[in-house]
Amino acid sequence: MREKIEEIKKEFSERIKTNSIDELKNIEKYFLGRKGKVALLFKELKNVPKENRKSFGESINALKEFLEKEIKKRIAEKENEQKLKKLVKEKVDITVPGLKLRTGALHILTQTMLEVEKIFLSMGFDVMTGPEVEEEYYNFEALNIPEYHPARDMQDTFYLLNKYLLRTQTSPIQVRTMEKYKPPIRIIAVGRCYRKDPPDAHHFPIFHQVEGLVVDKNVTFKNLKGTLSEFVKKMFGENVEVRFNPSYFPFVEPGAETSINFGGWLEMGGSGMVHPNVLKNAGIDPEEYQGFAFGWGIERIAMVKYNIPDIRFFYKNDLRFLDQFR
Ligand code: PHE
Repeated sequence: MREKIEEIKKEFSERIKTNSIDELKNIEKYFLGRKGKVALLFKELKNVPKENRKSFGESINALKEFLEKEIKKRIAEKENEQKLKKLVKEKVDITVPGLKLRTGALHILTQTMLEVEKIFLSMGFDVMTGPEVEEEYYNFEALNIPEYHPARDMQDTFYLLNKYLLRTQTSPIQVRTMEKYKPPIRIIAVGRCYRKDPPDAHHFPIFHQVEGLVVDKNVTFKNLKGTLSEFVKKMFGENVEVRFNPSYFPFVEPGAETSINFGGWLEMGGSGMVHPNVLKNAGIDPEEYQGFAFGWGIERIAMVKYNIPDIRFFYKNDLRFLDQFR
């Protein structure tokens, strides 16, 4: 019996040297399993003389405990080693610079429109919109431009069926607003316009305007000047001024072209006192109310402010251009 115990210990100490966890589990079964070496020893105990049984039993129990402890320790050791190896293999170098994802940005025209809106909102204006596919009536007739009027020539556009057209200006929103709301009215409208202009450095068949309209009692040209001066200071800087040159637009009287002194006088758009016919067309009594209106080009504002030499840059989608305004 003693020899058998010694033999088992010796065999165990040889086999336990393995590095394989699977093999260690086999060994565990081989020695400690239900039909393993130790179980067999217990079975043989009944062949041992009675007086020695107790001490042999204790020896086998000690062997069992020893084997159990050793094999557990060894398996734990090997598992730890494996985990460590895996960790080293999967190590992440957190100092490697990340991959930069290219994100989009607002187009410079969109940025400009938002800035214009922000300034006028801060001055107490509301923001209106109107359809780009407009009725001929709102784009021309209601604005005091009858069909025979030569002013239509300068705003030749894309005509659609049934007296619809692509609007040539944001001014139709003046009439739409006055039809819908009673004075006092204080609004701007920003949006896309169309004209049949061949593209060059300053023209493009698609462009954007900001329209302004104020209608109330006792509105004067002075209010128009003050409003545009304030806007220009906020948009271009404290020292920038507006100049008014007499000009003709059928829907204002008197009318003026407006320029700003931003490295020379640069023309920005039209303005004037709303023509009595336009007020009447929208159901407002010109004896009781007056109004002023202006219409400036968004592209023009951006070109002047950011020193962009050619309007076509806005529509080319060249990232070398667009990236400068991120
Ligand atoms: N709508 C005019 C244009 O596009 C500009 C303008 C607006 C002039 C309002 C006077 C008043 O040329």
